[in-house]
Amino acid sequence: MKIMASVGIMGIFLATSGFAQTTLKAAFKNDFLIGAALNEAEFTGQNTNAVALVKAQFDTISPENALKWEAVHPKPDQYNFGPADQYVEFGQKNGMFVIGHNLVWHSQTPKWVFQDEKGNPVDRDTLLARMSNHISTVVGRYKGKIGGWDVVNEALNEDGTLRDSPWKKIIGEDYLLKAYQFAHEADPQAELYYNDYSLENAPKRNGAIALLKKLQAQGAHIAGVGLQGHYKMDWPSPALVDETIESFSKLGVKVMITELDLDVLPPATRSQAAEVSMNFALQAKLNPYTNGLPDAVQQTLAKRYADLFAVFVKHHDSVSRVTFWGVTDGDSWLNNWPVKGRTAYPFLFNRDGKPKPAFNAVIQTAKVPQAPQKPM
Ligand code: GLA
Repeated sequence: MKIMASVGIMGIFLATSGFAQTTLKAAFKNDFLIGAALNEAEFTGQNTNAVALVKAQFDTISPENALKWEAVHPKPDQYNFGPADQYVEFGQKNGMFVIGHNLVWHSQTPKWVFQDEKGNPVDRDTLLARMSNHISTVVGRYKGKIGGWDVVNEALNEDGTLRDSPWKKIIGEDYLLKAYQFAHEADPQAELYYNDYSLENAPKRNGAIALLKKLQAQGAHIAGVGLQGHYKMDWPSPALVDETIESFSKLGVKVMITELDLDVLPPATRSQAAEVSMNFALQAKLNPYTNGLPDAVQQTLAKRYADLFAVFVKHHDSVSRVTFWGVTDGDSWLNNWPVKGRTAYPFLFNRDGKPKPAFNAVIQTAKVPQAPQKPM
C-alpha cells in the first residue's frame, strides 16, 4: 500500500518566519530539473550571494552569454574559451546538468561569419564549413560535460514560416539539418534541442511541429524542444501552455521551459515576441515600480507563477526542465529590454536574493513526495 507523506509541503515551512525551509530543486525533484541562466559574476564565484542561492536552489544551469558565438568565437581564428570553461567547471563541480546555449542563431553572431574579407556574403560551402568548424570545436571541447545543447535558436517567424536569417539565405533551408548533424557527430551522447519563443501561439507552434517532424524524418537527433518562456502577465494563458506542451510531447521529444521570466511592467508594445532587437524609449509610465513592487502586484505575480507551475507539474512526464533566465530580479535582461533602464521583477528572488511571495506559491505546486512503500 502506498502511504502519502503526512507532512505536506506547507509543513516544511517555518510558519513564524515565513522563510522557506525547502528549495526549488528539492521540491521538484520528482518532477523536473530546475535551473537558472548564469552571468559571468555568478559562474566565476564573484557574486557570492548569488552563487550561494544557485547552489542551494538549482540543479541545472544555462549560460546567459558565455557560449554565444560572439563570446566564444569572436574572430575567424580566435576562440575565447575562458569564461565558457569556468561556466562548465562551475556546473560540474556542483553536480549540475550543464546546458550549452547556443550554436546557430541570427543574433549575437559576428558579421564575419556570413561575410568574406570584402564584406560580401560568403557562399553556401564556406558558411557550412564555418558552421561545422564552430560546432565541432565548441561541442567537441565540452563533450561529456555539457549534457544538452540548444543547437538552433529562433529559426521561425511568428507565422510559423522559416525566418529569413543569413543562415537560411546563404545555406538554404537544410541549414538546420546540417547543424543537428554536426552537433551529433561532435558529441553523440549530448541531447540536442530546438529553442524558440512564443511557440505557444498556434501559427508558430504549428510551424515548429512541422519543422521538427521534417527534421525527425530526415534523421536529426532532436531530444527536446525549448519553450523560452518569456511570458507576460496576461499571455500565454495556462490553457495555452498546457496545449502547447501536450502537442510537442506527442512528437516524442522532451519539452523544456528554458528561459522563464514574467514581465510585470506595463507593455511597451503589443508584440508577444521576445525579439532581442526591439528597443523603445524610456518613459516614467513604463517604469512604475522604481521604489519596489506593490504588494498587490507581488500577489498577482505569485498567482500567475503558481498557475504556470501547476501546468508544468501536470506534465512532469514530458517536461524535463524548467530554467529561469536569471537568478535575482536585478539580473534580468528585462531591466533593459525592450526599454532600457527599467526596474523589473520577473523572478522568484528579489534584488537581495530573498524569496518573494512567488517562491512559496511555486513551491506549493510541487507534488508531495511519496513515502517509501511499506511491506504488507
Ligand atoms: C533570447 C535568447 C537568449 C537571451 C534572451 C534575452 O531568448 O535565446 O539567449 O539573449 O533572448 O536575454
